[in-house]
Amino acid sequence: MKDILCNDLLKRKLEELLGGFYRKYVYYFVRISLEKKTGSILKSGSYVKDSVLEGKNYLGKNTVLKNCRLGFGSYVNNNGDFTDTEIGRYTSIGANVSCVIGTHPLNTRAAMHPAFTNPEKLFGYSYVKEKNFRDTEGHIEIGSDVWIGNNVLIMDGVKIGDGAVVGAGALVTKDIEPYSINAGIPARKIRYRFDGETIKELLRLRWWDRGEVWIKKHIDEFTDAKELLKTLDKGSGEPAE
Ligand SMILES: CC(C)(COP(=O)(O)OP(=O)(O)OC[C@H]1O[C@@H](n2cnc3c(N)ncnc32)[C@H](O)[C@@H]1OP(=O)(O)O)[C@@H](O)C(=O)NCCC(=O)NCCS
Repeated sequence: MKDILCNDLLKRKLEELLGGFYRKYVYYFVRISLEKKTGSILKSGSYVKDSVLEGKNYLGKNTVLKNCRLGFGSYVNNNGDFTDTEIGRYTSIGANVSCVIGTHPLNTRAAMHPAFTNPEKLFGYSYVKEKNFRDTEGHIEIGSDVWIGNNVLIMDGVKIGDGAVVGAGALVTKDIEPYSINAGIPARKIRYRFDGETIKELLRLRWWDRGEVWIKKHIDEFTDAKELLKTLDKGSGEPAE
């Protein structure tokens, strides 16, 4: 028993040491190469694991993405923390925004500690050989042209629609409709950004899929959504680059 404990401790300390060394010294160069490859800015302490950066992204200081996809032009400001999350294009995420991943069994079972549901020794020990509980509601989806204010928490399994706004300090527990403005704990809809018809047309236009050449060509119309929508009327639906 003493030997097992010592071996476990040794293994854990070694992993800690190597992980720390990798993140502090080796990952510095990995980050530079990622910045170069994707045309992104990745500030100090930011860390990307098993994730895709589509390009022209910005990660603030100490922001961590694990198993995520960050769409073209989107940013996550300082201290962001996302796992299993898909984020669309040109989405703005403020500082201190995190996802809340994981749940414990609330009903029926006698114990809620992961040692009774997960063999992975998440907190040092486990009593089970096989996982017997689904401990996450699934991945988070955040659309394109979304704005999330500072200090927001997003629960797992939630979908935030294209063009939506989440106000500072909110706790997002349920799906959020496209182009709606939401705030509070739990987050509730305050209003929509546009009338129903304009929202429908913007969701048809999907300007974020049209590429930078198209966006630059129509940049003046971006100051008024209704003007931009006239490009749909004219049928000038240039393909995305
Ligand atoms: C939500 C937000 C976008 C404002 O939207 P808005 O439609 O202009 O809302 P209003 O200011 O008209 O407020 C409407 C109501 O919502 C409330 N409200 C606004 N923002 C709120 C918030 N973050 N949390 C809780 N309630 C909020 C207002 O108090 C008001 O309530 P009332 O109707 O009882 O008076 C803005 O308040 C916000 O939170 N922005 C994020 C700022 C931020 O984080 N910046 C840093 C990153 S860029």
